[in-house]
Amino acid sequence: MLTFRTIKSLTESLRGYRAAGLRVGFVPTMGFLHAGHRALIVESVARCDITVVSIFVNPTQFGPNEDLDRYPRALEQDHALCRNAGVSLIFVPDAGEIYPPGFQTTIEPGPVAEPLCGAIRPGHFRGVATVVTKLFHIVQPEVAFFGQKDFQQCTVIRQLVRDLNLPVEIVTVPTVREPDGLALSSRNSYLSPVDRQRARCLSQGLLAAQAAYGQGERDSGRLIAIARAQMTEVDQLQYLELRDARTLEAAHGIVEQPAALCVAASVGATRLIDNVLLIPPPTALSDHELELVSHALDRQATASANEPRPS
Ligand code: PAJ
Repeated sequence: MLTFRTIKSLTESLRGYRAAGLRVGFVPTMGFLHAGHRALIVESVARCDITVVSIFVNPTQFGPNEDLDRYPRALEQDHALCRNAGVSLIFVPDAGEIYPPGFQTTIEPGPVAEPLCGAIRPGHFRGVATVVTKLFHIVQPEVAFFGQKDFQQCTVIRQLVRDLNLPVEIVTVPTVREPDGLALSSRNSYLSPVDRQRARCLSQGLLAAQAAYGQGERDSGRLIAIARAQMTEVDQLQYLELRDARTLEAAHGIVEQPAALCVAASVGATRLIDNVLLIPPPTALSDHELELVSHALDRQATASANEPRPS
């Protein structure tokens, strides 16, 4: 595994891999890696010939009163996790490498970045979209991997890739959770033991709503109420909203399209986010069964067409 600190050295190395026709997978991160990041890396290693992980605490996606300065860092452990998971290259630039003096161009995402975290963290997704676009241009991966944990971020990135014709496939990897349901996050390290216990109620609420959906509940108000009823232990519920899973438009009334139930809350001084997807169960028949049924219907149609017609 090789580590690069400059864009020049990374791109020179990548040129060699690309010339050899190797498929490049990319996992952008801010470090302090855990099993959630690991799931993205494992997916990339499985699907690609080489995997590049970037570790960069991107200052432009943090607001003035947010946790940029105290964001947790553990570069040595991150290296070990990457090496064990089969990463080929790590890119660890400093802020001056990504934002040299005179830097002034940014990417402004559209309406998908407005609700939820976009409303609470103004400019956050501009920072994310800008750094991810830069990293895509530096690494030029065939595929990039993002976690469902940051569902709005995935939506913003997919929209960005579509709108700007970026030649990269986006893969979303399901959220990795602690055994008690809490979604893994680098920020969980801020939680005191008591807050850590209190934080469980977020995933409990989401999973309760998802279970109700699975049993046929389709009323958005009732689904939100089921989740909210569990989320009594947090200090402030910043939002708990049901949104269309593709467009992030608010899902009112009866939920007919795939939806995401998204929550952000503060527990002590820590801000946590989580979400679950509410997706209609696939048709009761498997693809294979559907094929058999359609063959049977075809045969029936042919047989009845050949039958002598009653005179
Ligand atoms: P970071 O918070 O380090 O997350 C890096 C990637 O790991 C993101 O795609 C995130 O969704 C994913 N991830 C985090 N926790 C996860 C979990 N429990 N299960 C599955 N995936 C999880 O997200 C960022 O960094 C930054 O915004 C970045 C995209 C790197 C741009 O700066």
